[in-house]
Amino acid sequence: MTRADSAARDRILVIGRSGQLAQALLELDSGLVACGRDQFDLSRDDAGSLLDAHAPCAVINAAAYTDVNGAESDPEGAQALNCTGPARLAAACKARGVRFLHVSTDYVFDGAAGGAPYKETARTRPLNVYARTKRNGEDAVITANEDALILRAAWIFDGRGGSFLNAILNRLDNGLPLKVVQDQISTPTWAPDLANALLRLARSETMPAGVFHFSGGPAASWFDFARAAIRLAQPQLPVEPVIDPVDSSAFPQPAQRPLDTRMDAQALLTATGIGPGDWRAGLPEVISRRYEQRKG
Ligand SMILES: NC(=O)c1ccc[n+]([C@@H]2O[C@H](COP(=O)([O-])OP(=O)(O)OC[C@H]3O[C@@H](n4cnc5c(N)ncnc54)[C@H](OP(=O)(O)O)[C@@H]3O)[C@@H](O)[C@H]2O)c1
Repeated sequence: MTRADSAARDRILVIGRSGQLAQALLELDSGLVACGRDQFDLSRDDAGSLLDAHAPCAVINAAAYTDVNGAESDPEGAQALNCTGPARLAAACKARGVRFLHVSTDYVFDGAAGGAPYKETARTRPLNVYARTKRNGEDAVITANEDALILRAAWIFDGRGGSFLNAILNRLDNGLPLKVVQDQISTPTWAPDLANALLRLARSETMPAGVFHFSGGPAASWFDFARAAIRLAQPQLPVEPVIDPVDSSAFPQPAQRPLDTRMDAQALLTATGIGPGDWRAGLPEVISRRYEQRKG
């Protein structure tokens, strides 16, 4: 077998390129082939042609309609990207014997379990359009391809784009005070941690099938998470940070958010030995990178 043949045999195709998860995947392995929406529009392009052109051994879908508030006024767009497109991709993978890995969300739950971590068997009850289309996507992917693997993550963070972390740090860098929600709780997921797990699972001897939870470390509110980030960023800030806890009602939004979606990720760990790390381990890297890049 030539080197080109063996590279093709190991090729992993990533749907999405500029997003948090797609970028984390590409940073871990520059040999991945990533398709941004300019090359493959998940909401309408032919998945079979894409697979035939790249001949991957596995596909990781890192693309989604992630504008939670925007989805409220664009349910068809969200459904196309979060459900119909992934199902088409899953079916095309199934027809070619290609592994398919997909990512879903803690928002499939209503967050009213009273703080008990959700297991995979827990009843889903999405509260908003984004969450409903993601839940529909889970069902449609498994129906199209019973070998597919779906990881539900929560509060994915990294230092990119318009993330929550960047939004609060941008304010603090400008010496502005912060109000942060204290009544929404989950288990945050560091994007490179999820990316690493997806790559290991894609390349594992036997990839498990079905829905698994992937988020780790202690449950935290957005306020706890912001406070942990601020503690790390404090030496770089121009003034003493001011942060006040508020309830969700202080920030009315088009999409209702679930209040407590902490998840139990034990099932994946038991099945594969792969589990999420503690989000507090990823945070220092994100913060130090942010300020190092600025100095550089
Ligand atoms: N962010 C969170 O807190 C969170 C929490 C739980 C679960 N999730 C799930 O985790 C996954 C990754 O989320 P993320 O935070 O990395 O998302 P993100 O940063 O918002 O990135 C979204 C990605 O979707 C791609 N995309 C958008 N429209 C597309 C289209 N029409 N065709 C093809 N690709 C398109 C974008 O492609 P381009 O590269 O072309 O821009 C981008 O790479 C998603 O399934 C999301 O639902 C996210």
